[in-house]
Amino acid sequence: MIIRSRRRSDVASSEITPEDVYVNRRSFIRRAAAGAAVAGFLPTALSACETSEAGAAASEGPKTGAAVGNGVPAPRDQEVPARFRGMESELGEELNSWEEITTYNNFYEFGTAKSDPSRNSGRFRPRPWTVAIEGHVNKPGNYALEDFLAPHTMEDRVYRMRCVEAWSMVVPWYGFPLKDLVARVEPTSAAKFLEMTTVVRPEEMPGQRTNVLEWPYIEGLRMDEAMNPLALLATGVYGTDLPNQNGAPLRLITPWKYGFKGVKSIVKIRFVEEMPRNTWWMTNPREYGFYANVNPEVDHPRWSQGRERRIGELRRRETLMFNGYEEEVGQMYAGMDLKRWI
Ligand code: MTE
Repeated sequence: MIIRSRRRSDVASSEITPEDVYVNRRSFIRRAAAGAAVAGFLPTALSACETSEAGAAASEGPKTGAAVGNGVPAPRDQEVPARFRGMESELGEELNSWEEITTYNNFYEFGTAKSDPSRNSGRFRPRPWTVAIEGHVNKPGNYALEDFLAPHTMEDRVYRMRCVEAWSMVVPWYGFPLKDLVARVEPTSAAKFLEMTTVVRPEEMPGQRTNVLEWPYIEGLRMDEAMNPLALLATGVYGTDLPNQNGAPLRLITPWKYGFKGVKSIVKIRFVEEMPRNTWWMTNPREYGFYANVNPEVDHPRWSQGRERRIGELRRRETLMFNGYEEEVGQMYAGMDLKRWI
């Protein structure tokens, strides 16, 4: 199902934006993309990180046309190139296939194996949906998803995604800049961080009936990170609604950080004074921190972070500082000891 509300956002940004602005935005994304890539992650004693599984998924190749998760149909072969050919060449890196993006997932609410989220999320209902805005803002409230999205201009954004587990993908997301939401809800000077929370529905999310993690899944950003133009609230991928396994109906994308910062199925965004206690930091503070910036210089205790494996490729690539987005985000961390603030 393509997102079909009657918003400007329903069409590709190339169709709604004056060409000069559009070209500039594209070159911004291209600059943001210049470099190399990846994202990843994985828990302590839990072991969802099986790179052999990645190889299996990749070798099967795209199976466009298949429906997975909540039945969002895959874009047909002939549609994908038409919409994304330009973005692919700008990034200079091939997009991962629909099949790879929607069947090789981390979403512990549906299980710990990479194939669990696509297999176990069929009962999850991402609509109707409400998003709560709370904390130090002038405009708190509970918004129906449609009202939450309505004022925003949606965009396609092709980003690298690097998991702390040392695998990566290139994904064509669809969403709007988080900074636009921040501006809209008017944080007060007391707001220093954002805390974002996933829905709790054990009846629809079998993983939440286990104690593999403490629920709900929580993530957070510093206010300046939330206002960085790269931070995106995504509602779609490959031009269709997010499938359940990718975080329907709303998730965070911060491409310079490890993938675990990308909290899925968000129901609450709280503007707070204190640094939020994000799920993986709380689960294993020795291995995970709050910032989770992609950093090839700082190894995870169980994975070297110097190289990564792009799903679909055999050879490992070098991991770039901030996942290749240093020019856009590096200044936010000037003077910080990035070996300490992992
Ligand atoms: N959000 C929730 N609620 N639960 C999770 O288990 N996993 C995170 C992140 N967001 C996770 C989550 C991790 S570890 C990664 S790498 C990304 O989602 C994976 O996103 P993808 O499956 O769309 O690639």
